[in-house]
Amino acid sequence: RTLDDLADPRGKRVLVRADLNLPVRDGVITDMTRIERLVPTVRELSDKGARVILCSHFDRPKGKVVPSMSLRPMADALSKALNKPVAFADDCVGPVAEAAVAKLSDGEVLLLENTRFHAGEEKNDPALAQALAKLADVYVNDAFSAAHRAHASTEGVAKLIPAYAGRLMQEELQALDAALGNPARPVVAIVGGSKVSTKLDLLGNLSRKVDVLVIGGAMANTFLAAQGHSVGKSLQEAEMHDTARQILRDAAAANCEILLPSDLVVSPRFEANPPTKTVRVDAVPDDMMALDVGPDTVEAIEGKLRQASTLVWNGPLGAFETPPFDTATVAVAQSVAALGDSAGLKSIGGGGDTVSALRHAGVSERMTYVSSAGGAFLEWLEGKTLPGVAALETH
Ligand code: 3PG
Repeated sequence: RTLDDLADPRGKRVLVRADLNLPVRDGVITDMTRIERLVPTVRELSDKGARVILCSHFDRPKGKVVPSMSLRPMADALSKALNKPVAFADDCVGPVAEAAVAKLSDGEVLLLENTRFHAGEEKNDPALAQALAKLADVYVNDAFSAAHRAHASTEGVAKLIPAYAGRLMQEELQALDAALGNPARPVVAIVGGSKVSTKLDLLGNLSRKVDVLVIGGAMANTFLAAQGHSVGKSLQEAEMHDTARQILRDAAAANCEILLPSDLVVSPRFEANPPTKTVRVDAVPDDMMALDVGPDTVEAIEGKLRQASTLVWNGPLGAFETPPFDTATVAVAQSVAALGDSAGLKSIGGGGDTVSALRHAGVSERMTYVSSAGGAFLEWLEGKTLPGVAALETH
């Protein structure tokens, strides 16, 4: 159920689970994306006369009140984004929260303090879920990016009062469905990042669902080494060689083509702008490490993308934060954007590093969809059930 099913929210107290877990440095919010993407739900509810009660976690205070992890600064940021006042309550449940809710008039917005100041949040304690439910008539979950957590404010409360998906939640689920649920084929997935061990479930699930799986980043070194190539000083996981070979066999059995790098950009040191050279994968010098995939590999990826209808992207192809090892990631990102314009390629990206890499390449706006989620995006791609989403579906 979405906000379309919430017939007349006027006068109703609506508890909205947001994800205001924003990046903050020295007390300053460094990226407003999650606030901007929350605005449509809050504005719609407020315009329709609902009494909007926002709750969220922020950081990991582990059940204690940690003043530096207060959500108070987010109330000001939200107020600016909404262009209307946002009240703040120093607790997310109990007399303080109840009094603040009682003061709300139709259309007004209140933000509650960090749900993780209560130990019951992460334990999904029914008492905390009850206390949250007591504040409201209905519940709206707009925190797709926290939906992989079975917590009181994401899962417990959804079972206690009528629950709906907010606009951002709805948008994320539709985009992911277009990517893997019911995608236009052929589907190419690009998976990068440093470790095979953290992406085993992802590689397994994708190789069953997509037509071509491109493996880049340092995790490609593990696959190359498992195939018998010498990878010199490159980052790799020697203990994962058997697993890597098994992934390749499973993919072949599932008719998924795996594209590994054919050439690599290597350097003796990992630092900005060191001496580099481009070598074939069977010619990595012993004293050098691979830090990006090479131009032939980029061309091979682009060839696959030209034949594809859908792309799912998680993880950069090289050490993109340190130039020139952003070259392949930027080149492929720009091709994706161009193919979106010229050939209608649908492109869906997500996960912490991927979002920064796409932004670095200047193509975030030109992707079909960039998820606001990190861990939740990954778990969804792994084929896992997200408790926050499941709770909406069954109640
Ligand atoms: C995120 O930023 O990925 C979510 O807000 C979840 O945060 P968590 O990893 O602290 O649960």
